[in-house]
Order: sequence, then structure tokens, then C-alpha cells
Amino acid sequence: MTKQRVLSGMRPTGKLHVGHLVGALQNWVALQAKYDSFHCVVDWHALTTHYADTSEIVANTFDNVADWIGAGLDPEKSTFFIQSLVPEHAELYLLFQMVTPIPWLERVPTYKEQIQQMSDRDLSSIGFLGYPLLQAADIAMYDAHWVPVGDDQVPHLELTREVVRRFNNFYPANLVEPQALLTATPRLPGIDCRKMSKSYDNTINLSDDVKTVQNKVRQMYTDPKRVRADIPGTVEGNPVFMYHDAFNPNTAEVEDLKARYRAGKVGDVEVKTKLAAAINTLLEPIRERREQALARPGYVREVLMEGSNKARVVAHHTMARVREAVKLKY
Ligand code: TRP
Repeated sequence: MTKQRVLSGMRPTGKLHVGHLVGALQNWVALQAKYDSFHCVVDWHALTTHYADTSEIVANTFDNVADWIGAGLDPEKSTFFIQSLVPEHAELYLLFQMVTPIPWLERVPTYKEQIQQMSDRDLSSIGFLGYPLLQAADIAMYDAHWVPVGDDQVPHLELTREVVRRFNNFYPANLVEPQALLTATPRLPGIDCRKMSKSYDNTINLSDDVKTVQNKVRQMYTDPKRVRADIPGTVEGNPVFMYHDAFNPNTAEVEDLKARYRAGKVGDVEVKTKLAAAINTLLEPIRERREQALARPGYVREVLMEGSNKARVVAHHTMARVREAVKLKY
């Protein structure tokens, strides 16, 4: 029996952090045995917001993929590839544009939100409006049944399904309508309790060393009412405990810390020291595999070139089918 395909995508816009680990990578690793996994570095998607400065996209690509390997994704089992090395994505995107009403894109919730949030950039481009449609092409190209994403991506998956359905109605290309494979992890805040984001400089990165993790955890925001260790503190919504829940596998230790925190019987230093230790234990094997991958000259690049060639073979077949369905066959 052939395995069903999973397709995921990540924008190479910065270093990966622990939010990516619990929100995406751990899930991808769990899926790679059961599914035929394709993981795409979506560099064109990075351009939709970062077109004015493209200088870091390539370096981020190699760095992020080293983190994928670090997190336990195995290039022998999964296919890693680069979107722009499979130009068929642009062709399918173009054909999707023919059947997609502009209001479908304008009403995607992330569209207006992001234009407001990123007010320092001019996002009035066709490219930015088309972001979810390019994503639809990424997914449909591989007849992926499943797309592992966080809940923020559900509207994009919904649009993908609608576009694929409409496209299949006009043209019998029989593209697969994909489904979201939701990651159950709760969204983690940054160390300052704002949204975790590299633009806020509030992330713990997968490539941070032991000392950096300790320093960042020491700076973490906790319960601001608790100016002394003997004042009872609040655990709920407290980033330090959200991180303990996410990263400390010793649940007995976590429960004990929570009980003593609520009772005003533990200092922040102990809570944070134990958290930093748990995060460092989790990151240690990731750092090691990452460094091993980066120590082999040209290795990550080679993985991506091989993967992109493999992806291109699949894309070539899909586009032959699509062109025939559109009756543009000469
Ligand atoms: N929009 C996705 C995100 O921001 C990235 C993405 C692009 C993607 N193409 C994809 C995710 C295809 C899954 C499948 O996370």
C-alpha cells in the first residue's frame, strides 16, 4: 500500500525557535514514518513580505533545514525541497489565478490583519494578496492529503480546498482536496509574554547554546505581582509555567513547583533554573544533530538539491495532467 502524502511549508525568514519545535517540527517528525512527507522551504512566500530585502533568505534556508535535521527529520525518509527550485509551483499558481475570485483572497482573515500588523511594509502587492493561492498551489501540486499546520493556517487550508474544488469543476485534473492536520500544542508566548516573534527578539532559538538559554530563561516574564518569593503566585497564563508544561517532561517536578508557587513557597530562581535545565536537555540532541549536519561541507545543500529534483519529478507529472485537463496540450 502506498502511503498518503503530507506536505508542509516553512518560510525562511529567520532562525527557528522553540515555538517552531512544539508547533510544527515535533509533529512533522511524528508523521514521517506513517506518511510520504514532503517539506518545502517556501522562499517565494518569504518574498511576499520580505521583497525589499532578500539578502538573508538563502542563509535562512540552510540554517532552518539544519534545524529540521536537528529536530529529527530524516532526509532519508522525507523529501526536503525549495519552492523556487520547482518553478511548476508558479505555473499552477497562475492557472489557479484564472478561476479564483479576488474577494476570496481579500476575505482571508490573515490578509487584512497582517497588512495592519506589518504597517512598516507596503503589502499592497498582488504577491501578498496571492499568498494563500500560492500556498494552495504548493499543496495541490503533490496531491497531498494532509497538511500539518497550526490553527492560524485553517483559513488558508479552507481556501485551498475551495480553489481545488473550483479548479476541478472547470478542468478534470482531479487534484486532491487537502485537509489540515492540526497541531494540538497551545501557542506559547515569547519570554516577555508578548506574541513569540523574532521581530520582538523574545524567542529561545533551537541554535541557542546552553548559556544563552539560561540567560533568556532568567529574563523571562513571570507573575508581576510576586515581588518576593513568599507571595503566592499565579500559575495560569504565566509563561514560565507554560514553558514548564511544554518542555519539562518531569511532571512530578512541575506539579511540585506549581503547588509551591501558588503557596508562596518557592523562589523564581529555582523555577527558572529547573526550566532552563529542562529546555537544555531537550535541545541538546537537537544541537548535536544540527552541528553534525552543518559540519559536513555542502551536506544540507545536497539534501535540498536532491529533494528538489525529486519534488520536481512529481510536479512535472502533475503539470502534465493539469495542462491536459485545461486542454492546453500541443
Ligand atoms: N503559510 C504557511 C505558514 O505561514 C507557510 C506555507 C506556505 C505552507 N506554503 C505551505 C504551509 C504549504 C503548509 C503547506 O506557516
